[in-house]
This record gives sequence, structure tokens and C-alpha cells, in this order.
Amino acid sequence: MEVLFVGSECAPFVKTGGLADVIGVVPKALTGRGVRIRVLLPAYQTLADLAANGREVTRYDSLMGGSARVVEVKANGLDLLLLEARHLFDRPGNIYLGPDGNDWGDNAIRFGALCQVGADLAEKGAGKWKPDIVHVHDWQAGLVPLYLRQRGCNVPCVVSIHNVAFQGLFDAGLLEKLGISKSYFTSEGIEYYGRISFLKAALVCCEKIATVSPTYARELMSPEFGMGLEGVLQARRADLSGILNGIDLDVWNPETDPMLPAGYNARSLKKKGLARAELAERFGLEPPRDAPLFCVISRLTSQKGLDLLVQTLPALTGRGAALALLGTGEKQLEDSFLAATRRYPRQVGAVIGYDEALSHLMQGGADAILIPSRFEPCGLTQLYGLRYGTIPVVSRTGGLADTVIDANEAALIANCATGLQFSPVTAFALENAIHRTCDLFAQPQIWSAMIRRAMKHPVGWENSAKSYAALYAELTMMSGKA
Ligand code: ADP
Ligand code: GLC
Repeated sequence: MEVLFVGSECAPFVKTGGLADVIGVVPKALTGRGVRIRVLLPAYQTLADLAANGREVTRYDSLMGGSARVVEVKANGLDLLLLEARHLFDRPGNIYLGPDGNDWGDNAIRFGALCQVGADLAEKGAGKWKPDIVHVHDWQAGLVPLYLRQRGCNVPCVVSIHNVAFQGLFDAGLLEKLGISKSYFTSEGIEYYGRISFLKAALVCCEKIATVSPTYARELMSPEFGMGLEGVLQARRADLSGILNGIDLDVWNPETDPMLPAGYNARSLKKKGLARAELAERFGLEPPRDAPLFCVISRLTSQKGLDLLVQTLPALTGRGAALALLGTGEKQLEDSFLAATRRYPRQVGAVIGYDEALSHLMQGGADAILIPSRFEPCGLTQLYGLRYGTIPVVSRTGGLADTVIDANEAALIANCATGLQFSPVTAFALENAIHRTCDLFAQPQIWSAMIRRAMKHPVGWENSAKSYAALYAELTMMSGKA
């Protein structure tokens, strides 16, 4: 079965968050299950060299006001289709934001173009290749199912919601430029409070909807989490499924990770201590042996609940614990953590920025990873934490709820705890979880048993790959192709 993925990020080539990790690994996870996936992605400036080595499969004299072409290239075990359109994607810096930190003013056109090309490839294929299914990810690829429907093309489409907070909302005046018939601009269609929503377009036009954890699939249908799309999702309840993300076990492997001073596994945890020492040094911290070194690796946005962590720093440092934070995002949060590094110089360290290599060292060296998200469709850093024996301390929401087993009394007695959960998502509950973590850390036998269990917790793609293969099989049956 041939599947076309359409998305805006793909690790290791271009990444701003977990979307990239997932698009970069699912194709590998499904190899061997009779599914071959090609990934259509914009050739951003950083991908220009890769694209230059590709083989041209289609050419456009005019795509949203400029010439463009699609090239195919194999890299890192992935079959990529790169959309070269210099007027849209040949720009420095963040793929979504201009130098002023705001969204590029023409994002609707940039990703609308990606969707038009996605629809063309779905309909006509490229050379001998033709997809049986299209799988689009998040709003950036959301118009593909609409374009297909508009053209009367019945290649079945599944949309993955990685985060409903990002809906791709644009001015209704762009309908014509995007080539969308006005008849779609209704409240049952793609309109979202007077604007065009790319994500809603996908939800109303696709055959199936997937999201990245079972709990988030349920949450999405509620007003607290649905962000105005809960009604649409309730209406499509029968077509909605939650398939848990996994991780790339080759890239995230503490035994072979080149970013760690020494590889380790559950039987050689002493070597994790070497990573701890290196991490502490990198951040200028002096964590004592009897208090945990926490880490945070995150976008700094309100989704991630890190404002609550700022409030709990007096308690965390009061316990003698330390915190190493790597993140970038909202200025106010960046400033708060930088201020904390001055206030607690040997206990709080922060690197403001994006650093993939450092994130590996942190997963290896920290004792626990804090993820106090207000909502979290799946979350990957807790999965990396489990694999590296870095105990996740998480809010009980979305994929965090599905992947971490809280160290409550019953779970400790039953020997199944892998981390700590807290609820509700308040500073008070987080503070309590930090105290519980410090208490458990002070009991080395319990703590190291928990680390070993965490490291055994299955975080790969085995089960979810089966679920995607089953979903694709169902779709091809629907379209009568099986
Ligand atoms: P989200 O996609 O909502 O940001 P996830 O937990 O699914 O959250 O994925 C985040 C991904 O981005 C992880 O691979 C994480 O390690 C990475 N990441 C986030 N912030 C940074 C950063 N500042 N530096 C390096 N990697 C980061
Ligand atoms: C989104 C979500 C995150 C999820 C990731 C990959 O960015 O915020 O929870 O893990 O997508 O699916």
C-alpha cells in the first residue's frame, strides 16, 4: 500500500516540535507492514541542498505566484518529496515566523500551496507511483482533503491532529486566492467564527481522523480541550481514533547515544551518573547526591504550564533540588527562568534556545523530567525520559496520562510505577508532586526500581504501527481498493 504524508516538519531535516519526530519515524515504523510512505514537505532554506540533489517529478510554471517543482530524494531512510518554491519557502530562520517573531504574513498561501501540490500528487501521482491513501498532519496540510473533494477525487484521506490549538485561521478574503469555492465557507464547512480554518477544512472533508493519544481523542470532544472544534469532532466521533505516539528507538537510545559521556542501560545505571555530572557542569549547577536534578525540555508556551513551575521554584530549591531548563518561546517565560538562574545560581540553570544535542544530554543526565502541561496531545519528552530512566513528573492530561504510571501507594506496592502524575494542573499540585519526587528520590531502592521499570516501559511503535496499518486497510476497503 502506498501512502502520501503531507506535513510541514520532519525530523531530522526540519523540526520545531514533536510533529517532526512523529512524521520522521512513522514511515520507518510501518516498513515491513506492507505500507510504504512518501513524505511531502516544503523545501525550506535549510533543505535547499538536499532538494538540489533530488530528481524532479513535477514542475509548476505558476504556483501561488511563482515557479515551483517537486523533487524526490531518499535521505535518512525516508522517501521525501520536496516542494521547491523559492518565493514561498526560501527564507531564513523559523519556518513559521518572520524575523519580527510573528507568523509570516503569507502563511495561508505558503501552506495552501503545499496542500495544492499534495492534492495534485494524490490525484495524479508522480511517474509510476500513485498513493492509495493520503495522510495529512495538522493545519498546514489541512486543505488537501478539501481540494480533493472539490475536484471529485476519491483518494481517501486521514488527518492527524497533533495539536488542536493550532488551527490555521486566516482571513475569509483569501478564499479565492486559495482556490476554495465559496460554498465551503459555512459553519458546517470550513468557517470558524468568520475566518477560514485549515484544520476544520480537514476535519469536515477527510474520511478518518486520528489523534496522538486515546485520552486526547476523548478530551478533544469536550469544550475544555476542543478549542471550538469539539462539536465537529463529536459529530465525527465514529471516525475519530487515538493512536499513541511512539519514539524512534534508534535515535533515542541511552546505550548508543553519542551525546552522552558513556552509554548505559538498566544494569549500568552508574554510568548515568556521568551524564548527570556533565549536565550539572554545563548548567553551572551543584546538585547534591540526595536531591534530584530536574530538567525541562520544552517550547515555552502556556500549553506547557511552565508558569506554574516558576511559582514552585522556591519549594523545589528549598528541597535542595536543582533544575536545568532548555527552551524557547514566550519572552515573559524566558525572562522568568533567566531571573531564576540569577536568584538560585547553583540550583537553577537555563539555556534559552533550541539545541537537539543538549536535549539528549539532559535526558541522559537528569533524574526527573518535569512536564506540567495544561493540555498535551501526546508529548514525547516523557517517552524519552522513560527510555533514559529519567522519571517523568507530569500533569494528568492527554498522552501524559496514557504513558506514565503514577507512583501512588498502590502502584508502588504492585511494582508498576514509572513516574509521577498530578492533577489538577495548578502550582499547588505541581509543588506537591515535586515534594513527592524528592521524597521518593531520597529512598534509593524505590527510586532505582522505578528507573528500571521506566526503562522497560514500551515506548516504541510496535502497537501503534499496527493500529495505523489497520486504519489504512480500513480506508482502502472504504474506497473499494482492497
Ligand atoms: P510539542 O510538540 O508540543 O512541542 P512534544 O513533547 O511532542 O511537544 O515534542 C517536543 C519535541 O521537541 C521533543 O523532541 C523535544 O525534545 C523537542 N524540543 C522541545 N524544545 C526543545 C529545545 N529547546 N531544544 C531541543 N529540543 C527541544
Ligand atoms: C504536538 C503536541 C504534542 C505531540 C506532538 C506530536 O506538537 O503538542 O503533544 O506529542 O504534536 O504528535
